[in-house]
Amino acid sequence: MNASFEKKILCIGAGYVGGPTMAMIARKCPNYKVTVVDINPQRIQRWKSDRLPIYEPGLKELVEATRGRNLFFSTDIEEGIREADIIFVSVNTPTKTYGLGAGMAADLQYWEKTARQILACARSPKIIVEKSTLPVKTALAMERILKSRESRIHFEVLSNPEFLAEGTAVRDLEKPDRVLIGSRLTPSGLKARQELVDIYRNWVPEENIITSDIWSSELSKLVSNAFLAQRISSINAISALCEKTEADIRNVAMAVGRDGRIGSRFLNASIGFGGSCFKKDILNLVYICRHYGLEEVAEYWESVVHINEYQKERFVRHMLTAMFNTLAGKKICILGFAFKANTGDTRESPAIHVCTRLLEERAELVISDPKALDNARLDLGHLEQERISFVQDPYEAARGVHAIAVMTEWDLYRRLDYQKIYDDMIKPAFIFDGRNVIDHEKLYDIGFNVYAIGKTPLTHFDESESVQDLQA
Ligand SMILES: NC(=O)c1ccc[n+]([C@@H]2O[C@H](COP(=O)([O-])OP(=O)(O)OC[C@H]3O[C@@H](n4cnc5c(N)ncnc54)[C@H](O)[C@@H]3O)[C@@H](O)[C@H]2O)c1
Repeated sequence: MNASFEKKILCIGAGYVGGPTMAMIARKCPNYKVTVVDINPQRIQRWKSDRLPIYEPGLKELVEATRGRNLFFSTDIEEGIREADIIFVSVNTPTKTYGLGAGMAADLQYWEKTARQILACARSPKIIVEKSTLPVKTALAMERILKSRESRIHFEVLSNPEFLAEGTAVRDLEKPDRVLIGSRLTPSGLKARQELVDIYRNWVPEENIITSDIWSSELSKLVSNAFLAQRISSINAISALCEKTEADIRNVAMAVGRDGRIGSRFLNASIGFGGSCFKKDILNLVYICRHYGLEEVAEYWESVVHINEYQKERFVRHMLTAMFNTLAGKKICILGFAFKANTGDTRESPAIHVCTRLLEERAELVISDPKALDNARLDLGHLEQERISFVQDPYEAARGVHAIAVMTEWDLYRRLDYQKIYDDMIKPAFIFDGRNVIDHEKLYDIGFNVYAIGKTPLTHFDESESVQDLQA
């Protein structure tokens, strides 16, 4: 059966990027055999089952259409390397937590182990594709490792960063704004680059496949994430000013976004960005700038992360102040734990910070989310369990609570029957909308005291006799 495949592709790392990306390649290139391997046997087992290890709209259907036909999942990494022509490396590259660069630099240990394993197992020439997000010039390190043995096998390293967004991964993979491929500009580099272009050409229009030198490609991924995160921090910084001046962030964002030079996307004020990439990639960029002595540039980008931390903490302080400066013993329903809608991923989710801080204030938490409760349990597992409960149904979760905090912009939360929820809550009832997704005026009319990001609170209290703002 194998002999009928035109080419064999391997992906090392069966995570949020490796799984969906390879499923899409398998779908669009039926003549290629695509195998995804991982050191984590439970993860591979889930990819082979009905319960995929990650949730993405449309992913299950995509995997079911290709699995067992030309898409395979395995833990046999060595065999995978031996038989592959093209190897995508999509392992995790988290922020280093130890030694030099701790808290800033990318931890490249998983990446380097992969490079060494490829070298040890390969018996024929391979194209190695960097899919993971990496510091600029990592391809050079990969090349050096792959050339470190007296071997006649030729390895060509390409950079092909992934731009998919979680929650819309399948759509992004099917219709990417662009595919970026960086290579050495040598004859063998250009030939390998063309092989990768030929894969994407099966479904991506040629004008959307961009090619460049390898370092520009590596750096473009870090810069894209830095720019996206910067927009979020920019609008969030202005939301703080709106709250002081009675301006409404939604009106400001709408007016600003109508400028064609600025554009309207990524201008929703919120509790802050999360996800495994933005913070880590900006810190990595900052680290690289410092390495090259560019302190001012480093500080500029670092401030994007500072504003994000500030925004999360501001939200907690607002809750505390609004609820009469004490949360001890109060029950708070957390609507949404995923870092964004349509994913179960909770890595760096702002909800983690908010819940941790609320527990420090001795609140009791009822956490609800349609897809992320398993991850939420793991994230909060080290905290006091007797004050945390996990309830899938939002109505049940909100029953008998003092306040609701919306942490994720799940569509479901826009459509809840808030009158029913209000009736079952302790009064005065508070709602803190960390995503600005609910109709605030309607909530106010129901009887809620409503606190949104970047807006004057809508409360039923006599604000001329305001309770002293002890925390501000
Ligand atoms: N998640 C995203 O939205 C996203 C988007 C674009 C780029 N990226 C980048 O893609 C890379 C992967 O991200 P992810 O979210 O898929 O990570 P992930 O943690 O979900 O998956 C990585 C997988 O690699 C496996 N792995 C680690 N070392 C291995 C080894 N030596 N051999 C085999 N498998 C190994 C892990 O077990 C894990 O399953 C990162 O560099 C990330 O920055 C992520």
